[in-house]
Amino acid sequence: MFQQLHTKHQPIGQFENTRFEKIHNVTFKSSFEASVLVAQEIASLIKEKQDQNKKCVLGLATGSSPIKVYEELVRMHKEDGLSFENVIAFNLDEYFPMDKSNIQSYFYFMHEHLFNHVNILPENINIPNGAISIDQLHQYCIDYEMKIKALGGLDFQLLGIGRTGHIGFNEPGSHLNSGTRIITLNHITRIDAAPSFFGIENVPRKAITMGIGTVKDAKRIVLLAWGANKNTILKKTIEGDISATVPATYLQQHGNTTFVLDEEASSELTRVKTPWLVKSCVWNAPLKLKAVTWLSNLLAKPILKLTDQDYNDNGMSGLLAEEGTAYDLNIKMFNKLQHTITGWPGGKPFAEDSNRPERANPSKKRVIIFSPHPDDDVISMGGTFDRLVQQGHEVHVAYQTSGNIAVSDEEALKFAEISKEFNTDSKKVNGIIEFIKNKKGNDLVDSLDVRKLKGAIRKSESLGATRYLSLPDKNVHFLNLPFYETGTIKKGNLSEDDIATMKNIIDTVKPHQIFAAGDLADPHGTHKVCLDALFAALEEMKSEKEYMKDCWVWLYRGAWHEWDSHEIEMAVPMSPEQVLRKRHAIFYHQSQKDGVMFQGDDSREFWVRVEDRNRLTAKKYNDLGLTDYAAIEAFKRYHY
Ligand code: F6R
Repeated sequence: MFQQLHTKHQPIGQFENTRFEKIHNVTFKSSFEASVLVAQEIASLIKEKQDQNKKCVLGLATGSSPIKVYEELVRMHKEDGLSFENVIAFNLDEYFPMDKSNIQSYFYFMHEHLFNHVNILPENINIPNGAISIDQLHQYCIDYEMKIKALGGLDFQLLGIGRTGHIGFNEPGSHLNSGTRIITLNHITRIDAAPSFFGIENVPRKAITMGIGTVKDAKRIVLLAWGANKNTILKKTIEGDISATVPATYLQQHGNTTFVLDEEASSELTRVKTPWLVKSCVWNAPLKLKAVTWLSNLLAKPILKLTDQDYNDNGMSGLLAEEGTAYDLNIKMFNKLQHTITGWPGGKPFAEDSNRPERANPSKKRVIIFSPHPDDDVISMGGTFDRLVQQGHEVHVAYQTSGNIAVSDEEALKFAEISKEFNTDSKKVNGIIEFIKNKKGNDLVDSLDVRKLKGAIRKSESLGATRYLSLPDKNVHFLNLPFYETGTIKKGNLSEDDIATMKNIIDTVKPHQIFAAGDLADPHGTHKVCLDALFAALEEMKSEKEYMKDCWVWLYRGAWHEWDSHEIEMAVPMSPEQVLRKRHAIFYHQSQKDGVMFQGDDSREFWVRVEDRNRLTAKKYNDLGLTDYAAIEAFKRYHY
């Protein structure tokens, strides 16, 4: 089975593990493609065991990482007749305390994603019981462990990895030989779980988990990790020393483990991030820029001061040999970066544009800014938005989702109560007030009216911001893509309706420029789904519509990340005054201020975060030797 992920399905280019890597790992272009292969490995194991008339003992994980694997296993069961009759499943963990019926329980998760859709025998499903009483807990954990051992151990263990380096819920400090037990969840883990629990205060503090020892006894281990959020911990796990502070490093001692990654997750590995340090490279233009900016950063020297020796000492003699001298290479790379800077994001009218990021013509462009939530537009590109309007382009903003789940009940109640002042007898308003006041627990999905009110709050906040930036209301579009409207954190799948809505707005505006959130970091997050909807629309429209030939797509990053300097293809500087205008526009999004629901582990407010980020981008440019600006917004072009 090792072979299957190893050779038959050759993943993307750089896949030979290097001297830095202590765990076998493979990188795929997409988590979907990778998940299908993992599901195939599991399916072959199940069948192999069936042929031998044996049980197949699987260790299973929850979380976002294995969802597509389960989807594919369900598909195989339904379409290819894969039977789960010989499968005995043991789940890694469960929150404690936690009732089975709770939608946040791992019991619920496993049934929703897998067990309800395949023919596994109910008696063969083992998930730690989060409702066990404290006095029974110790014995319960021993029994769980013994049950696995009695069956001859786990044939296969599927894992995800937490940002703390946990596997199962074995948080930092866990012992190599630990068994199934109760543990205290790390703060970062609770932050990561907060969205599914509608706030960190609702996330349990404890969990029952299989131990490192339990996991390590499995005959085969496959760990899945997707997205840039995991790249730092993966580098530590794969390249670092074995240590209890990163429990996943214990897997370095397991001889039959494969880490299955997507490109974002593997992006910090030495062979990916700085390939010139481990092998000879084919030096294409993006790699040259990446290497030179890296070197400048490493040595804290502006590009134009890098010397031949600097290159030779840092694994880049091959590059130097190709380019001649450091002097030639430096000037070339410096100019490249210089040409990304423009105060004219819609193109500078009547100017020579061969070295500018955007075309001069047409001088007045039609522009769509796609914003996944009603605020990403001003948070991520408020300065550029402002310039585009001021420079006379026909700008449209399209909010892709209503963003209703990110409005707190308190905020909604405030508006409902104000409304009641004027509509004392309104059934709707009274119904909303009653619903919110009686809302119990965190698993209750809002009523349609409450969701509508929450959506309306975000809508009028958005209009406040777009009016402030002088955009006519008719150019503001609220798409309410259907995939988002489930009322829960878990979203539906992208459908034809979503794509049709995207195509419709594009066809109405017939844009020369599209700006969109290029958040590739979170494979299941709303931003990524919104981006997928755009990509799907572009794919269909590029051959259908002549005007699409003139439409350029620019990707900004969401509130969490920024493009690296070498990735930026358009850098729009902001003066201190423009930074303040942007801040003001963000302020209109009042419901997203002060301890918002989906804050993540960064307690800074959005406007603070983004000002820091735009200032940092400017500083990075300045450190490379370019002009010192107050702030910069960054974009990367997407070619479709
Ligand atoms: C889940 C589990 C955890 C997760 C990890 C990653 O059963 O044991 O170790 O695998 O927290 O979670 P996701 O996949 O949601 O990023």
